[in-house]
Amino acid sequence: MLSARSATTLLSFATAVLGANFSLVQDYSGNGFFDGWDFYGNYDNLTNGDVTYVNQTNATNLAYVNAGGQAIIKVDNTSFVPYNEKRDSVRITSKDYFETGTIWVIDAAHLPFGCSVWPSIWTKGNNWPTNGEIDIIEGVNLMTYNQMALHTQSGCLAANGTNETGEQGGGDCSTSAGCTVIEKTANSYGEAFATNGGGVWATQFDTSGIYIWFWGRANVPASVTTATDSIDISSWGAPSASWPASSCSIPEFFGAQQLVIDITLCGDWAGVSSIYAATCTDTATNACYLDNVINNGTSQYANAYFEINYIRAFGANSSVVVDSSGSAVGTSAAGSTATATGAGASASTTSGAADPTARALWLAYTVGVVSVLSWVVL
Ligand SMILES: *[C@@H]1O[C@H](CO)[C@@H](O)[C@H](O)[C@H]1NC(C)=O
Ligand SMILES: *[C@@H]1O[C@H](CO)[C@@H](O)[C@H](O)[C@H]1NC(C)=O
Ligand SMILES: *[C@@H]1O[C@H](CO)[C@@H](O)[C@H](O)[C@H]1NC(C)=O
Ligand SMILES: *[C@@H]1O[C@H](CO)[C@@H](O)[C@H](O)[C@H]1NC(C)=O
Ligand SMILES: *[C@@H]1O[C@H](CO)[C@@H](O)[C@H](O)[C@H]1NC(C)=O
Ligand SMILES: *[C@@H]1O[C@H](CO)[C@@H](O)[C@H](O)[C@H]1NC(C)=O
Ligand SMILES: *[C@@H]1O[C@H](CO)[C@@H](O)[C@H](O)[C@H]1NC(C)=O
Ligand SMILES: *[C@@H]1O[C@H](CO)[C@@H](O)[C@H](O)[C@H]1NC(C)=O
Ligand SMILES: *[C@@H]1O[C@H](CO)[C@@H](O)[C@H](O)[C@H]1NC(C)=O
Repeated sequence: MLSARSATTLLSFATAVLGANFSLVQDYSGNGFFDGWDFYGNYDNLTNGDVTYVNQTNATNLAYVNAGGQAIIKVDNTSFVPYNEKRDSVRITSKDYFETGTIWVIDAAHLPFGCSVWPSIWTKGNNWPTNGEIDIIEGVNLMTYNQMALHTQSGCLAANGTNETGEQGGGDCSTSAGCTVIEKTANSYGEAFATNGGGVWATQFDTSGIYIWFWGRANVPASVTTATDSIDISSWGAPSASWPASSCSIPEFFGAQQLVIDITLCGDWAGVSSIYAATCTDTATNACYLDNVINNGTSQYANAYFEINYIRAFGANSSVVVDSSGSAVGTSAAGSTATATGAGASASTTSGAADPTARALWLAYTVGVVSVLSWVVL
């Protein structure tokens, strides 16, 4: 018997193959948002920020779905933090990894900002930096724009003269800052992002290159707002950031990527004295920590939160979803949550291993009887 899940899988898969569209393979939204993620549960030993990333048990007040169905991820702004201690925050990584052939769409209404605040939504391979890193959303302190970047081993460069609307920074992706691109579209970060109603990012992770688009709320194209089962990227035009494979071999520098969402405080970027002072004025030693992290943190962190409408992954086919070892995911993927909208399900069966029926149909499909199967499924 065909389960509803495998029917959905085959239909969306057929769409992807027959057109240049990408079909939904994972949907992080609504009450099931946090089911597909792992919580870090350790102090920030990655970027030297002044936070403890709580475990899932301790995250109930810092990572939750609000009454409007939006995922909230925030810095603790209610606890008194004594001098020399860290403030609680959140870092989560997706259980699923995504191969080239993936489009991630991130719709947010609010991004964390404020002096000392350093949020990011990004991706990384299972071995850093060997398997690469894509920074989709990142800003510090009172910056007014989003900064995108790739981080890789030596040998991956940003191309010159690419058709991107952002402003290219350093071109060597192996430097500590990475190969950066500054967003030039207005309202991409900070208070203006929130008052503008937020916006949407789409990232294409492809063997031909890596591309990031950004739209403020009023300009999100219908191809994005109406994308549920599939997404058509053909009318999006020039991306904000473009790193074509001509100067960076994507398969060589990037493995399957998992999504990461975190907010740290101060640390290696926000906390650097000159960078902190650039938008937060105080040039005193350790000002980032002393002015913000300690004491009640009430007003300092009133805006230090993500409000995420959804994060969706669309794939050239369902096989783009893998685990940390690169194996296609089984039916126990993130979508096992009953509240997920079926995307995890569509991520689950084309590997064939977990579902002999799907496997048989998959083989039939590959020998060219997809149109017949589509009718059978319907
Ligand atoms: C993608 O899907 C849309 C909506 O079904 C369709 O109009 C469009 O032609 C498709 N594009 C491609 C390249 O197949
Ligand atoms: C950070 O701490 C965790 C938990 O102790 C540990 O597993 C990990 O290796 C540490 N990472 C670094 C870069 O030190
Ligand atoms: C979660 O973190 C708290 C605070 O550090 C700790 O007491 C608790 O044991 C942790 N729980 C788990 C399940 O790791
Ligand atoms: C964290 O977890 C520990 C042990 O479960 C508990 O004692 C503590 O009150 C929790 N703290 C917060 C901030 O949730
Ligand atoms: C799935 O799509 C990826 C990316 O386009 C491609 O490399 C791979 O061969 C496809 N897999 C199948 C089973 O069609
Ligand atoms: C881009 O231009 C700079 C400056 O001329 C040069 O150093 C760099 O090698 C160029 N990058 C590529 C990928 O050609
Ligand atoms: C850049 O992209 C835009 C939008 O797709 C296109 O109209 C334009 O022709 C492209 N320019 C170049 C130089 O490729
Ligand atoms: C922190 O908040 C508590 C309770 O509201 C208050 O009594 C205390 O004075 C505050 N401490 C500082 C340093 O602002
Ligand atoms: C704490 O932060 C939340 C947003 O996460 C905000 O709504 C609330 O007003 C803040 N609390 C105070 C006392 O400022």
